Amino acid sequence: MSKADPAENRQVPRGGSRRRARDFAVLGSCFALVLLLLAITGEVNFIVAVAAIIVLASIVFAYYIGSSSFLPVGEASPQPVPEEKRRLDSAQLLRALPLPAFEVDDDKRIVAFNDPADMILRLDGRTNPRASTVIRSPALLSAIDRMSQGGGDGTVSVEVDSGPDETWRAHVSRPTGSAQTLVVLEDLTPVRRAARARSDFLANASHELRTPLTALSGFIETMRGPAKDDTGSWPRFLDIMAGESERMSRLIADLLSLSRIEFSEHIPPSERENFSRIALDATEALQAVADDRGVSLVLEGDPDEALPVVAHRDEIIQVVENLLTNALKYTPAGGKVRVSFGQAGSMAEARTLAAQGWVDAERMTLLQAAGRPGKPDASVWLRVEDEGPGIEREHLPRLGERFYRADQSRGGKITGTGLGLAIVKHIMAHHRGGLAVETRMGKGSAFGIWLPAARL
Ligand SMILES: Nc1ncnc2c1ncn2[C@@H]1O[C@H](COP(=O)(O)OP(=O)(O)OP(=O)(O)O)[C@@H](O)[C@H]1O
Ligand SMILES: [Mg+2]
Repeated sequence: MSKADPAENRQVPRGGSRRRARDFAVLGSCFALVLLLLAITGEVNFIVAVAAIIVLASIVFAYYIGSSSFLPVGEASPQPVPEEKRRLDSAQLLRALPLPAFEVDDDKRIVAFNDPADMILRLDGRTNPRASTVIRSPALLSAIDRMSQGGGDGTVSVEVDSGPDETWRAHVSRPTGSAQTLVVLEDLTPVRRAARARSDFLANASHELRTPLTALSGFIETMRGPAKDDTGSWPRFLDIMAGESERMSRLIADLLSLSRIEFSEHIPPSERENFSRIALDATEALQAVADDRGVSLVLEGDPDEALPVVAHRDEIIQVVENLLTNALKYTPAGGKVRVSFGQAGSMAEARTLAAQGWVDAERMTLLQAAGRPGKPDASVWLRVEDEGPGIEREHLPRLGERFYRADQSRGGKITGTGLGLAIVKHIMAHHRGGLAVETRMGKGSAFGIWLPAARL
């Protein structure tokens, strides 16, 4: 227990001034009544009695004025807050902060902290550890030093790298009247990561655009210069140029598509669609490409079965078409691409049906469906299986990254922008669905998607 503060005893309860006035009024009236009685009974001369009442009233009034202030003491002077209570408030304040925050006293010990700070500093229940044993950043330690020696005005901000990909900004300040230095940490990692992703994306996009552009201008130069008169070679040059410009327009279309999907990412799909119809339409749209390549395209599943989903029809068609384009691209002539689809009682079951069809396969979930915990969500699934070369294990985790092409390292002739699976992943995330791949080297790959079925 803390000692009673004398200030506490000085405190006057609210309404004390009014009560004292009433007490003096009662006392004064009693005296006046007694003197009046004495005057009426003739014991005291009437004039003397009146004079006595006036004197008495004056004494009472003077005493009242002298013994009190018109303002109650409790309201006139702010009551000093006990130290114990002040510390409690500062701990509560830290706890209420959504950011990691802690206080360091002048002995350089961490005396108060909130849960987020506990997790970051890994205090593990240590009481009042030395700041230097917990904080590794010399810049932050010296900012705390400077602040506790009164060497800082306002707030000092220091950047702290706590890992290869983790950056914090520490705001160090000394609140007025406090015996401690306050440190509030702000996580800069997501901002930095987003900035890096943006600049990587721009660098990749411009590189990808520059490659066909360089080829095009190279051929234009050749046709204007050395091959000016060699018109026999022009058709070959023009074929290459047509291919390059086609590649450029495909890249631009993919980039636009990606940015459109990102733009509408916060608008959840709202249309009720039949998933079997989508699967059928997308497969039919690529039948001509399959015929052209001499690959047989087989649809397994009942296209008339009603599989209601809440989806953006065009986006899901784009998903299936992207998966099918890849499958057809990598399957040699004479091979087969199988599309199967159906429904399942839960997301987990749909995932198994979509992406766990082979026993001896390497597999990876590229996007986990955002199912409701504990709820067996009815789902629909689709699987595209090919007879291509398969994908090496080390590439699997990076599929779905923008511009990532596994066959680039293989030096194969098959080209692409490396945006198709990134678009698929984005769209599936937008539909709270999942994406997984399984592959057997030399035998083929299968990509599976699944998403919640619409409730009836
Ligand atoms: N069915 C598949 N078989 C073998 N490799 C595949 C298959 N599908 C995708 N890949 C690999 O994954 C990479 C990324 O595929 P993605 O669809 O994102 O890009 P792309 O096909 O190269 O270009 P885009 O689809 O943008 O024209 C491909 O470059 C390829 O290496
Ligand atoms: Mg593709």
